[in-house]
Amino acid sequence: MKIVYVTGCLGFIGSYVTRLCLERGWYVKGVDSMTYAANKTLLDEFNKHDNFSFVCGHDNHGCDINDLTFLYDCDYIINTAAETHVGNSIANSDDFVFSNVNGVHNILELLRNYRQENTKTPTLLHFSTDEVYGDMDDYGPSVLANEEFNLIGSSYYSSTKASADLLVQAAGRTYGLPYLITRTCNNYGKNQHQEKLLPTIINCIKNNIKINLTEKNKQYIKNYKGNIPTKKEIFTQGVEAGSNYTIKCWIGETVKVPEGR
Ligand SMILES: NC(=O)c1ccc[n+]([C@@H]2O[C@H](COP(=O)([O-])OP(=O)(O)OC[C@H]3O[C@@H](n4cnc5c(N)ncnc54)[C@H](O)[C@@H]3O)[C@@H](O)[C@H]2O)c1
Repeated sequence: MKIVYVTGCLGFIGSYVTRLCLERGWYVKGVDSMTYAANKTLLDEFNKHDNFSFVCGHDNHGCDINDLTFLYDCDYIINTAAETHVGNSIANSDDFVFSNVNGVHNILELLRNYRQENTKTPTLLHFSTDEVYGDMDDYGPSVLANEEFNLIGSSYYSSTKASADLLVQAAGRTYGLPYLITRTCNNYGKNQHQEKLLPTIINCIKNNIKINLTEKNKQYIKNYKGNIPTKKEIFTQGVEAGSNYTIKCWIGETVKVPEGR
Protein backbone atom coordinates (compact mmCIF):
# COMPACT_ATOMS: atom_id res chain seq x y z
CA MET A 1 0.00 0.00 0.00
CA LYS A 2 1.32 3.41 -0.95
CA ILE A 3 1.58 5.98 1.81
CA VAL A 4 1.10 9.61 0.86
CA TYR A 5 1.15 12.91 2.66
CA VAL A 6 -1.45 15.26 1.17
CA THR A 7 -0.84 18.80 2.34
CA GLY A 8 -3.72 21.25 2.09
CA CYS A 9 -6.07 18.23 2.30
CA LEU A 10 -8.99 20.39 3.44
CA GLY A 11 -8.62 22.84 0.55
CA PHE A 12 -10.36 22.72 -2.81
CA ILE A 13 -7.85 20.71 -4.85
CA GLY A 14 -6.32 18.92 -1.85
CA SER A 15 -9.70 17.43 -0.93
CA TYR A 16 -10.13 15.96 -4.42
CA VAL A 17 -6.59 14.59 -4.29
CA THR A 18 -7.28 13.08 -0.85
CA ARG A 19 -10.46 11.36 -2.07
CA LEU A 20 -8.64 10.03 -5.12
CA CYS A 21 -5.82 8.56 -3.02
CA LEU A 22 -8.27 7.06 -0.53
CA GLU A 23 -10.25 5.49 -3.40
CA ARG A 24 -7.02 3.95 -4.63
CA GLY A 25 -6.55 2.31 -1.24
CA TRP A 26 -3.51 4.42 -0.41
CA TYR A 27 -2.87 5.47 3.18
CA VAL A 28 -3.30 9.25 3.39
CA LYS A 29 -1.69 11.41 6.05
CA GLY A 30 -3.60 14.66 5.74
CA VAL A 31 -1.88 17.92 6.61
CA ASP A 32 -3.69 21.24 6.80
CA SER A 33 -3.22 24.29 9.00
CA MET A 34 -6.96 25.01 8.74
CA THR A 35 -6.75 28.54 7.43
CA TYR A 36 -9.94 30.40 6.51
CA ALA A 37 -9.79 28.56 3.14
CA ALA A 38 -10.02 25.08 4.68
CA ASN A 39 -13.32 23.22 4.68
CA LYS A 40 -13.20 21.68 8.16
CA THR A 41 -16.34 19.61 7.62
CA LEU A 42 -14.36 17.44 5.19
CA LEU A 43 -12.58 15.91 8.16
CA ASP A 44 -15.81 14.06 9.09
CA GLU A 45 -15.83 12.51 5.61
CA PHE A 46 -12.13 11.60 5.56
CA ASN A 47 -12.04 10.28 9.13
CA LYS A 48 -14.56 7.59 8.15
CA HIS A 49 -11.76 5.94 6.16
CA ASP A 50 -9.45 3.57 8.03
CA ASN A 51 -6.70 4.57 5.63
CA PHE A 52 -6.80 8.28 6.62
CA SER A 53 -5.19 10.08 9.52
CA PHE A 54 -5.03 13.81 10.11
CA VAL A 55 -1.78 15.34 11.33
CA CYS A 56 -3.17 17.31 14.22
CA GLY A 57 -0.27 19.55 15.27
CA HIS A 58 0.49 20.82 18.77
CA ASP A 59 -2.88 22.42 19.43
CA ASN A 60 -4.93 19.63 17.82
CA HIS A 61 -6.17 22.14 15.25
CA GLY A 62 -4.22 21.02 12.25
CA CYS A 63 -0.61 21.30 11.25
CA ASP A 64 1.22 23.96 9.30
CA ILE A 65 3.67 22.63 6.67
CA ASN A 66 6.26 24.87 8.33
CA ASP A 67 5.77 22.96 11.60
CA LEU A 68 6.38 19.47 10.23
CA THR A 69 9.62 18.32 11.85
CA PHE A 70 9.97 14.83 10.42
CA LEU A 71 8.33 12.48 7.94
CA TYR A 72 7.00 9.03 8.69
CA ASP A 73 7.59 6.32 6.12
CA CYS A 74 5.93 7.45 2.88
CA ASP A 75 6.03 7.11 -0.92
CA TYR A 76 4.74 10.52 -2.01
CA ILE A 77 4.19 14.01 -0.73
CA ILE A 78 1.49 15.83 -2.66
CA ASN A 79 1.77 19.49 -1.78
CA THR A 80 -1.37 21.50 -2.42
CA ALA A 81 -1.07 23.63 0.73
CA ALA A 82 -0.75 27.28 -0.18
CA GLU A 83 -2.21 30.72 0.18
CA THR A 84 -4.07 30.98 -3.11
CA HIS A 85 -6.12 34.14 -3.45
CA VAL A 86 -4.34 36.78 -5.55
CA GLY A 87 -6.37 39.62 -4.05
CA ASN A 88 -5.28 38.68 -0.53
CA SER A 89 -1.65 38.66 -1.62
CA ILE A 90 -1.97 42.26 -2.78
CA ALA A 91 -3.40 43.30 0.59
CA ASN A 92 -0.91 41.35 2.74
CA SER A 93 1.84 39.10 1.44
CA ASP A 94 3.28 37.76 4.73
CA ASP A 95 1.20 34.57 4.75
CA PHE A 96 2.05 33.99 1.08
CA VAL A 97 5.78 34.02 1.72
CA PHE A 98 5.34 31.92 4.86
CA SER A 99 3.22 29.16 3.29
CA ASN A 100 4.20 29.23 -0.38
CA VAL A 101 7.96 29.75 0.02
CA ASN A 102 9.06 28.86 3.58
CA GLY A 103 6.59 25.99 3.76
CA VAL A 104 7.86 24.42 0.53
CA HIS A 105 11.44 24.90 1.65
CA ASN A 106 10.64 23.04 4.88
CA ILE A 107 9.12 20.14 2.92
CA LEU A 108 12.23 19.96 0.74
CA GLU A 109 14.50 19.90 3.78
CA LEU A 110 12.38 17.18 5.38
CA LEU A 111 12.73 15.14 2.20
CA ARG A 112 16.47 15.71 2.12
CA ASN A 113 16.86 14.56 5.73
CA TYR A 114 14.52 11.63 5.15
CA ARG A 115 16.65 10.55 2.25
CA GLN A 116 19.80 10.59 4.34
CA GLU A 117 18.20 8.27 6.90
CA ASN A 118 16.23 5.94 4.61
CA THR A 119 16.89 3.90 1.54
CA LYS A 120 13.87 5.13 -0.40
CA THR A 121 13.11 8.69 -1.40
CA PRO A 122 9.51 9.85 -1.60
CA THR A 123 8.52 11.75 -4.73
CA LEU A 124 7.21 15.28 -4.29
CA LEU A 125 4.23 16.22 -6.46
CA HIS A 126 4.10 19.97 -6.11
CA PHE A 127 1.05 21.93 -7.24
CA SER A 128 2.04 25.15 -8.90
CA THR A 129 0.07 27.41 -11.22
CA ASP A 130 0.20 28.68 -14.80
CA GLU A 131 0.27 32.15 -13.25
CA VAL A 132 4.04 31.75 -12.82
CA TYR A 133 4.29 32.53 -16.56
CA GLY A 134 2.98 36.06 -16.00
CA ASP A 135 0.19 37.76 -17.88
CA MET A 136 -0.57 35.85 -21.08
CA ASP A 137 -2.04 39.00 -22.66
CA ASP A 138 1.54 40.22 -22.99
CA TYR A 139 2.35 37.35 -25.37
CA GLY A 140 -0.49 37.94 -27.83
CA PRO A 141 -3.92 36.41 -28.35
CA SER A 142 -3.17 32.82 -29.41
CA VAL A 143 0.02 32.02 -27.51
CA LEU A 144 -0.06 29.04 -25.14
CA ALA A 145 2.46 28.88 -22.33
CA ASN A 146 4.75 25.91 -22.09
CA GLU A 147 7.46 24.70 -19.73
CA GLU A 148 10.16 26.66 -21.59
CA PHE A 149 8.57 30.01 -20.70
CA ASN A 150 10.30 32.27 -18.21
CA LEU A 151 8.85 32.53 -14.74
CA ILE A 152 7.47 36.05 -14.35
CA GLY A 153 5.82 37.07 -11.11
CA SER A 154 2.91 39.43 -11.64
CA SER A 155 1.52 39.31 -8.09
CA TYR A 156 2.87 38.21 -4.72
CA TYR A 157 0.80 35.05 -5.21
CA SER A 158 2.40 34.10 -8.52
CA SER A 159 5.84 35.27 -7.37
CA THR A 160 5.78 33.13 -4.25
CA LYS A 161 4.58 30.16 -6.34
CA ALA A 162 7.39 30.76 -8.84
CA SER A 163 9.88 30.98 -5.96
CA ALA A 164 8.68 27.62 -4.69
CA ASP A 165 9.03 26.09 -8.17
CA LEU A 166 12.64 27.25 -8.32
CA LEU A 167 13.36 25.81 -4.88
CA VAL A 168 11.85 22.47 -5.89
CA GLN A 169 13.88 22.41 -9.09
CA ALA A 170 17.02 23.33 -7.15
CA ALA A 171 16.47 20.52 -4.65
CA GLY A 172 15.96 18.14 -7.57
CA ARG A 173 19.20 19.21 -9.17
CA THR A 174 21.32 19.59 -6.02
CA TYR A 175 20.14 16.64 -3.96
CA GLY A 176 18.54 14.45 -6.62
CA LEU A 177 15.12 14.69 -4.96
CA PRO A 178 12.48 13.28 -7.29
CA TYR A 179 9.74 15.77 -8.00
CA LEU A 180 6.98 16.66 -10.37
CA ILE A 181 5.62 20.19 -10.70
CA THR A 182 2.21 20.73 -12.27
CA ARG A 183 1.29 24.19 -13.50
CA THR A 184 -2.40 24.19 -14.09
CA CYS A 185 -4.73 27.00 -15.08
CA ASN A 186 -7.82 27.86 -13.06
CA ASN A 187 -9.91 24.97 -11.81
CA TYR A 188 -13.52 25.33 -10.76
CA GLY A 189 -15.82 22.92 -9.03
CA LYS A 190 -17.82 21.89 -6.03
CA ASN A 191 -16.46 22.97 -2.64
CA GLN A 192 -14.32 25.77 -4.03
CA HIS A 193 -13.94 28.64 -1.60
CA GLN A 194 -16.51 31.39 -1.98
CA GLU A 195 -13.80 34.02 -2.66
CA LYS A 196 -12.89 32.58 -6.09
CA LEU A 197 -14.33 33.94 -9.36
CA LEU A 198 -17.08 31.48 -10.31
CA PRO A 199 -18.38 30.92 -6.75
CA THR A 200 -18.51 34.71 -6.37
CA ILE A 201 -20.51 35.04 -9.58
CA ILE A 202 -22.88 32.21 -8.66
CA ASN A 203 -23.44 33.80 -5.25
CA CYS A 204 -24.16 37.18 -6.86
CA ILE A 205 -26.67 35.63 -9.25
CA LYS A 206 -28.40 33.72 -6.46
CA ASN A 207 -28.67 36.82 -4.31
CA ASN A 208 -29.43 39.26 -7.11
CA ILE A 209 -26.24 41.24 -6.48
CA LYS A 210 -24.68 43.29 -9.26
CA ILE A 211 -21.44 41.69 -10.56
CA ASN A 212 -18.43 43.85 -11.27
CA LEU A 213 -16.21 42.06 -13.79
CA THR A 214 -12.97 43.17 -15.38
CA GLU A 215 -12.66 42.86 -19.17
CA LYS A 216 -10.33 39.90 -18.65
CA ASN A 217 -12.88 38.12 -16.44
CA LYS A 218 -15.56 38.68 -19.07
CA GLN A 219 -13.43 37.18 -21.81
CA TYR A 220 -12.50 34.21 -19.67
CA ILE A 221 -16.10 33.38 -18.81
CA LYS A 222 -17.28 33.90 -22.41
CA ASN A 223 -14.77 31.37 -23.67
CA TYR A 224 -14.85 28.89 -20.80
CA LYS A 225 -15.89 25.41 -21.92
CA GLY A 226 -15.27 23.58 -18.69
CA ASN A 227 -12.79 21.30 -20.39
CA ILE A 228 -10.10 21.22 -17.74
CA PRO A 229 -8.23 17.99 -17.06
CA THR A 230 -9.22 16.33 -13.83
CA LYS A 231 -6.77 15.64 -11.05
CA LYS A 232 -7.29 11.99 -11.94
CA GLU A 233 -5.69 12.53 -15.33
CA ILE A 234 -2.63 14.09 -13.73
CA PHE A 235 -2.23 10.95 -11.65
CA THR A 236 -2.88 8.43 -14.39
CA GLN A 237 -0.60 9.89 -17.05
CA GLY A 238 2.78 8.26 -17.39
CA VAL A 239 4.68 11.22 -16.04
CA GLU A 240 8.35 11.42 -15.33
CA ALA A 241 9.83 12.63 -12.04
CA GLY A 242 12.02 15.73 -12.26
CA SER A 243 9.71 17.43 -14.73
CA ASN A 244 7.32 20.33 -15.04
CA TYR A 245 3.93 19.93 -16.65
CA THR A 246 1.92 22.87 -17.86
CA ILE A 247 -1.76 21.98 -18.01
CA LYS A 248 -3.23 24.51 -20.33
CA CYS A 249 -6.63 25.97 -20.91
CA TRP A 250 -6.64 29.21 -22.77
CA ILE A 251 -9.69 30.53 -24.54
CA GLY A 252 -11.51 27.40 -23.46
CA GLU A 253 -8.96 25.08 -24.97
CA THR A 254 -7.23 22.38 -22.98
CA VAL A 255 -4.03 20.64 -23.93
CA LYS A 256 -3.54 17.42 -22.00
CA VAL A 257 -0.22 16.27 -20.63
CA PRO A 258 1.54 14.59 -23.58
CA GLU A 259 1.41 10.81 -23.80
CA GLY A 260 4.42 8.99 -22.49
CA ARG A 261 5.95 11.86 -20.54
N1 LIG B 1 -7.75 26.33 -7.68
C1 LIG B 1 -7.14 26.65 -8.80
O1 LIG B 1 -7.77 27.04 -9.77
C2 LIG B 1 -5.64 26.50 -8.93
C3 LIG B 1 -5.05 26.77 -10.17
C4 LIG B 1 -3.67 26.60 -10.30
C5 LIG B 1 -2.93 26.19 -9.23
N2 LIG B 1 -3.50 25.97 -8.02
C6 LIG B 1 -2.64 25.54 -6.92
O2 LIG B 1 -3.18 24.36 -6.35
C7 LIG B 1 -2.96 24.37 -4.94
C8 LIG B 1 -4.29 24.23 -4.21
O3 LIG B 1 -5.15 25.31 -4.57
P1 LIG B 1 -6.63 25.40 -3.99
O4 LIG B 1 -7.41 26.23 -4.91
O5 LIG B 1 -7.12 24.05 -3.62
O6 LIG B 1 -6.36 26.22 -2.64
P2 LIG B 1 -7.30 26.46 -1.38
O7 LIG B 1 -7.06 27.85 -0.95
O8 LIG B 1 -8.71 26.02 -1.65
O9 LIG B 1 -6.73 25.43 -0.29
C9 LIG B 1 -5.46 25.58 0.28
C10 LIG B 1 -5.42 24.72 1.54
O10 LIG B 1 -4.09 24.78 2.07
C11 LIG B 1 -4.16 25.01 3.48
N3 LIG B 1 -2.94 25.73 3.86
C12 LIG B 1 -2.59 26.99 3.52
N4 LIG B 1 -1.39 27.29 4.03
C13 LIG B 1 -0.97 26.19 4.72
C14 LIG B 1 0.19 25.87 5.47
N5 LIG B 1 1.17 26.76 5.64
N6 LIG B 1 0.28 24.65 6.02
C15 LIG B 1 -0.71 23.72 5.88
N7 LIG B 1 -1.84 23.98 5.19
C16 LIG B 1 -1.97 25.19 4.61
C17 LIG B 1 -5.42 25.82 3.68
O11 LIG B 1 -5.93 25.70 5.01
C18 LIG B 1 -6.36 25.21 2.65
O12 LIG B 1 -7.08 24.11 3.20
C19 LIG B 1 -2.23 25.67 -4.63
O13 LIG B 1 -0.84 25.40 -4.58
C20 LIG B 1 -2.54 26.56 -5.79
O14 LIG B 1 -1.50 27.48 -6.03
C21 LIG B 1 -4.84 26.13 -7.85
